[in-house]
Amino acid sequence: MEVVAVHSAVDVIRAKRDGQVLGDAQIDWVIDAYTRGQVADEQMAALAMAVLLRGMTPAETARWTAAMVASGETLVLDGVRRPTVDKHSTGGVGDKITLPLTPLVAACGAAVPQLSGRGLGHTGGTLDKLESIPGWRARLSPDEIRDRLDDVGAVVCAATEGLAPADRKLYALRDVTGTVESIPLIASSIMSKKIAEGVQSLVLDVKCGSGAFMKDLDQARELATALVEIGTANGLRTSALITDMSVPLGRAVGNALEVAEAVEVLRGGGPRDVVELTLALAREMLEHAGLSDVDPAEVLADGRAYDSWCRMIRAQDGDPEAALPRAEHVEVVTAPETGTLARLDAYGVGIAAWRLGAGRARKEDDVQHAAGVLCLAKPGDRVTAGQPLLELHTDRPETIAGAREALVGAYEISGADEVSTPLILDRVVANRAPAGPP
Ligand code: URA
Repeated sequence: MEVVAVHSAVDVIRAKRDGQVLGDAQIDWVIDAYTRGQVADEQMAALAMAVLLRGMTPAETARWTAAMVASGETLVLDGVRRPTVDKHSTGGVGDKITLPLTPLVAACGAAVPQLSGRGLGHTGGTLDKLESIPGWRARLSPDEIRDRLDDVGAVVCAATEGLAPADRKLYALRDVTGTVESIPLIASSIMSKKIAEGVQSLVLDVKCGSGAFMKDLDQARELATALVEIGTANGLRTSALITDMSVPLGRAVGNALEVAEAVEVLRGGGPRDVVELTLALAREMLEHAGLSDVDPAEVLADGRAYDSWCRMIRAQDGDPEAALPRAEHVEVVTAPETGTLARLDAYGVGIAAWRLGAGRARKEDDVQHAAGVLCLAKPGDRVTAGQPLLELHTDRPETIAGAREALVGAYEISGADEVSTPLILDRVVANRAPAGPP
């Protein structure tokens, strides 16, 4: 993208402050100049606040995203002989879906480059989970990514520093200026990194509920619509599922515990909700990739997805057969009374797992791979007084008290028989074809 005019940061800030729609040239200039250090942090902070208060139109948001993509390198996947498709989740407690989904969709014939991050706060990061597998390596060069995509069809690795550097700078600034919670800024931040991956299509899993960024359905729909519009305007076939995150996904929350659960799913078992969401997202991805005649349930059941997982892990120097780390201390939380488990709060369980050592408070912190929470009962299950409800896993027994405290009020047992929470709450699709070739 050529940046033509020279603008003044103050003029751009004033225009947005006064509710004007920014022009393409203004957006291209301000993002480029900020990336190069010519627009100061305090000026960008003022502009981010003006955007948070005044909003941006879909066209402005799409251009803002394209300018952030243009601030760095883009992965070129032209040589890959399979259709390329990715999934992005806005993050939730126990969300290990990338682990079974990536090799499953690869086994169905697509190429899935999952450039992922590490976890911060109460939701885990995919790289942290996979790093609990002995030998597994997160860092791959662009050539290694392309080779593995062409051969295995599945790569989960660390995003390179060169992708969307404007976003990295702006996200850090938003974090300390109270400007994270702007839907156009969240959507452009997520999509700039995904578009820079060079894929042809993308499926978004927008989480909604206590354990998610978006707490209610209206907000989640607004974010999903913004994400789908940006993808479509930037040439990607894009759709979104909005899925429940008021309850942890599956039973395992924590790195090695989640890998073990993902392997169960890949071996044809695993919790019902993890299987349901994996298949729903796989169908969505396969439709975009032109592979809707392949049935992912069959590929999961007959072992092809598990074989694909083993190849994916070995291709990154991991040993899929090696024992996973196990925690030195395990304590249980028992049911205080008999009845039906009516509620198990995702946020409370996420905080408990984080306090046990599964997550990090600062970017520099290490995670404990074996730490986390196993949910032995899920909402709708009958429980009797004294029965174990949750297992707390950690190598540091001094963290147990804090984890128990996070769980106070996080579950509820009632006399009612039926508790039903649908997992897939809505689907958002583009209302037009993607703009130009992706
Ligand atoms: N995740 C991102 O990548 N960016 C945001 O702004 C929020 C969540």
